[in-house]
Amino acid sequence: MLRLLVPLLLLLSPPAPGTVLLAAAYGRPPSKPIVTPVAKDPLTSLYSIPIKDGAPLVLDLAGPLVWSTCQPSHATIPCKSSVCKLASSYRPPGCTNSRNGGRPGPGSSSADGDCTCTAYPYNPASGQCGVGDVTAVALSANATDGKNPLFPVSFSTYASCAPDGLLASLPSGAAGVAGLSRLPLSLPSQVASSLGVSKQFALCITGARGGGAAIFGGGPFQLMARHELAEGLRKNALPLLQNPSNAGAYYLRVQGIAIGEAAVTGIPPGAFDLDVRRGTGGVTLSTVAPYTTLRADIYAPLREAFAAATSGVPRAPPVEPFEMCYPASAFGATRLGPAVAYIDLMLDGGRNWTLPGASSLVQVDDQTLCFAFLEMDRSAAAVVPGSPAVIVGGFQMEENLLVFDPEKSTFGFSGLLFGIETTCGNFNFTVGSS
Ligand SMILES: *[C@@H]1O[C@H](CO)[C@@H](O)[C@H](O)[C@H]1NC(C)=O
Ligand SMILES: *[C@@H]1O[C@H](CO)[C@@H](O)[C@H](O)[C@H]1NC(C)=O
Ligand SMILES: *[C@@H]1O[C@H](CO)[C@@H](O)[C@H](O)[C@H]1NC(C)=O
Repeated sequence: MLRLLVPLLLLLSPPAPGTVLLAAAYGRPPSKPIVTPVAKDPLTSLYSIPIKDGAPLVLDLAGPLVWSTCQPSHATIPCKSSVCKLASSYRPPGCTNSRNGGRPGPGSSSADGDCTCTAYPYNPASGQCGVGDVTAVALSANATDGKNPLFPVSFSTYASCAPDGLLASLPSGAAGVAGLSRLPLSLPSQVASSLGVSKQFALCITGARGGGAAIFGGGPFQLMARHELAEGLRKNALPLLQNPSNAGAYYLRVQGIAIGEAAVTGIPPGAFDLDVRRGTGGVTLSTVAPYTTLRADIYAPLREAFAAATSGVPRAPPVEPFEMCYPASAFGATRLGPAVAYIDLMLDGGRNWTLPGASSLVQVDDQTLCFAFLEMDRSAAAVVPGSPAVIVGGFQMEENLLVFDPEKSTFGFSGLLFGIETTCGNFNFTVGSS
């Protein structure tokens, strides 16, 4: 076993050249953000980035850690280190069926009487967790000026090892999960400490074949044929809420939902509120939930209101897991998708996250569109612990540029990019000149 002889200052002090032993960044001096393509797996609807030597890690907005399978021989870190305190402190709630993926079990000791650090990697798609050594893994991406990739950068992050079995329910070929939460061992936090950039990140995900893009480390984000978009979003950012019992996850304050500019009636007062004391309720964002999922007391009135707004439209037989489907031919086509009443998520300060047809109706086959919202059940609750009231899922976030600032605890969103005639597929991945 290789013992990493590293002063574990990385996360606890501002990065200075020289202390960043794990960073081992090569190429040019690396204080630029990095860009990576984001692919959607058609079978699992999960989004991943090819950041571990080209092998994909699945994105989990609420995830605390980076985890991956490991070689039998891998570096470990001492359990009495500050990094270990952080890494081992995330115990996924309700995680009983742990699988052991590190070599020595938790709390085991090496010959010098020093124990090695273990963590509890969690697979949000299967709800399963494991136990594994904390190690260092090399990740690579390209530095970016926000317009193009510039040059390759390799850097090291602390990650938890995981047993092969923990990869079940992830896309085939995926090597693990990259948590994007605000916690100190998430990917954005570790990119920031390794590369000396900001913790801000921008996601532009899509179900379209070419895939989208993500930038870690702040800076501009430019899509072809458009001006820079990220700066404007940061200026207009909204506050994020934090749930103490699920500290990494990003929550939004939602005041209500409207369809066709009429508030949906029948939703109980306070239904969207986050109960900070009990750690339940609230509206959170997840790249692991394929569709927006709502607690029954919100879902039923929303479904009724959408049914009323489409009462003049013929129905098609429902296609699992959706309840309301329509013949695709029944809607006119617009730049923003099928012509149907817009859904507004009413946020702070009178702002709306507007979901036009392309964000509310999903094409399930050549002839059929379905209302792309689901009622919360146990499997959805596994995606984000703490039984949130609403999980805003991947489909509704697609073709939006989303900018997260974990330090300021703010969130910016572009709204459907089709409205400004671009898409998440329009990041220019041709190498530019730095
Ligand atoms: C950097 O970008 C180029 C061009 O898009 C790509 O071919 C290469 O795989 C990228 N390198 C890394 C390490 O992601
Ligand atoms: C937000 O949505 C509500 C309901 O559709 C609407 O009444 C209100 O005018 C919208 N606000 C803005 C700023 O567009
Ligand atoms: C993409 O980027 C390259 C390198 O900067 C540039 O030469 C090319 O014109 C860009 N393509 C488009 C369509 O903007």
